[in-house]
Amino acid sequence: MNDIADTSPIFSPYKLRDLELPNRVVVSPMCQYSAEEGTPNDWHLVHLGSRAVGGAGLIIAEMSGVSPIGRITPGCTGMYVDAHVEGWRRITDFVHKRSDAKIGIQLGHAGRKASTKPLWQGQNQPLDSGNWKIIAASAEAYGEGNQVPQAMDQSMIDEVVAQFGKAAERVVEAGFDMIEIHGAHGYLISGFMSPISNKRNDDYGGDLPNRMRFPLQVVDSIRAALPDGMPLGVRISATDGVEGGNTDDDAVKTSRMFKDHGVDYITASAGGIAGWSMIPRPEPLGYVPFARRIKHEASIATMAVGNINTVEEVEGILRQGDADLVALARGHLRDSYWSLHATQELGMRDGGWPDQYVAVPRQDSLWRKDRNAAGESA
Ligand SMILES: Cc1cc2nc3c(=O)[nH]c(=O)nc-3n(C[C@H](O)[C@H](O)[C@H](O)COP(=O)(O)O)c2cc1C
Repeated sequence: MNDIADTSPIFSPYKLRDLELPNRVVVSPMCQYSAEEGTPNDWHLVHLGSRAVGGAGLIIAEMSGVSPIGRITPGCTGMYVDAHVEGWRRITDFVHKRSDAKIGIQLGHAGRKASTKPLWQGQNQPLDSGNWKIIAASAEAYGEGNQVPQAMDQSMIDEVVAQFGKAAERVVEAGFDMIEIHGAHGYLISGFMSPISNKRNDDYGGDLPNRMRFPLQVVDSIRAALPDGMPLGVRISATDGVEGGNTDDDAVKTSRMFKDHGVDYITASAGGIAGWSMIPRPEPLGYVPFARRIKHEASIATMAVGNINTVEEVEGILRQGDADLVALARGHLRDSYWSLHATQELGMRDGGWPDQYVAVPRQDSLWRKDRNAAGESA
């Protein structure tokens, strides 16, 4: 076996501010729709914990609402009351004590995509009962059948900006290592950024600097609550993918603005701005060119995401300098041990298996030897 830990870019450490990640593999944030009143529970502990044990360098917990009405579904997690802090603390403690992984959380507000059903009951569909009033940049529904949101006035904007700051304080208290802001897929922040959903004619609408005013206020509010050494990223839709929407040229500009406000990396996702546009399912590596452009033209670290699945693909992205980190979502649903399996595929001697599981790599080679001694082919 070769010990190629030193040569595989996947398993080279990476530093964001004071945070040292053991490798470049990220568990992309994935809503689980399984919380009660926003509080994470055993499901989240096992879901996130097993992926930490599985060897990823960074786990990003699902989009968590900064207020009850900012949740996508009634089952979404939150970070708006102290009970949430306790629930999350149990999970961050486990990850830190039992793995080398670091753990962050995605903070968001669902805006006009709030008060909807979990993925498996009909994505972006309003609830059958118990809908709550929703808010957004402008009073236009996300899609046919969705509620018309209330357009936010200045006091509502100020309130949500403060909620993000308060949530960030709770994130620190809960023991997370970093925050990613959900600024993609048509949720509240993305909704302000895009001319498709932002029809305002005040200081928060119109040209790009105006449409960025609210997102940047959110960034400032969060930054003010974080220790200097704690990283902050933003996931954006690097293109709305529709005529009249934001393009990847805009993504470079918005990334520069985020960087100037203390954001450390950009995750380049895409789409989702309106019901009729949906999030296009990317071809394998389909969004990687956006991560590459933003990294090189806005001079900021990037996280690639979107239909990236194989060890070869992740290595390629990192070797070519397209991104600094690579997030896999469904790949980690299929295999919570994606990173440990990658070490085996790469033939690394010390694959980082937990002590409790060290029988796997050892036993595999012993087993092969025994079978060979017994005259069987390996
Ligand atoms: C079950 C599920 C839940 C998701 N929830 C979130 C989320 O909370 N925040 C987010 O930014 N993206 C979310 N996504 C999108 C993923 O993070 C990712 O960008 C997308 O699935 C493409 O990556 P993949 O091809 O590796 O799955 C979700 C995806 C899935 C499959």
